[in-house]
Amino acid sequence: MKCAIVFTGTYGSTAQYAEWIAEKTGLPVFDVRSADINLADYDSLLIGTPIYYYKPVIGPWIERNLSNLLQKKLILFTVSGAPAGPTLDEWISKSLPAEFTTRMQHFALRGRMDLKRLSFFHRMMLKIGSLLDSKSDSSVEEWEGFDHMDKGSIAPIIEAVHALQTTEEDWSEAQLSAQHS
Ligand SMILES: Cc1cc2nc3c(=O)[nH]c(=O)nc-3n(C[C@H](O)[C@H](O)[C@H](O)COP(=O)(O)O)c2cc1C
Repeated sequence: MKCAIVFTGTYGSTAQYAEWIAEKTGLPVFDVRSADINLADYDSLLIGTPIYYYKPVIGPWIERNLSNLLQKKLILFTVSGAPAGPTLDEWISKSLPAEFTTRMQHFALRGRMDLKRLSFFHRMMLKIGSLLDSKSDSSVEEWEGFDHMDKGSIAPIIEAVHALQTTEEDWSEAQLSAQHS
């Protein structure tokens, strides 16, 4: 089994999780915006993406590489303000192709947002969003920022990589249990 971690992100939290996973697994890490990776070299991929505006940022890259990705075992890890749960699952299933989401295991990690580091455009968009949705908890976070980074939260991903590295049966079982958790 040849596996790699690919990711995108702007403010470093997805990159940080990708590095933590690489540290524990020894897998190579690639930023999808660099041309360094040849997908044909890998039969399994961990794909890391932040969620911006209710969508995985890596969506367009997945669309562009879909036929190639569907030949592989796939783990998606998302990094968001929102916790794991039906809302996040719905954002993902609405934004990514069904052929992809039915093949993948998904793990939700929580990220960080430091308002001082955001671009002017991102700050303005978030403020508009929080004004439109002023009652929810997430709108408070959008005004104040947050830091939910947690190295321990990668443990289930490390287990899934180990399952990938064993047998086909283990992989199918892990995929089924992730879909039902
Ligand atoms: C412009 C912008 C939009 C965001 N939209 C969402 C969102 O819709 N839902 C959510 O749960 N978190 C949202 N977040 C929080 C990010 O998912 C979180 O800050 C993540 O850690 C950023 O990843 P990065 O540091 O790799 O760029 C948003 C953050 C930014 C900057």
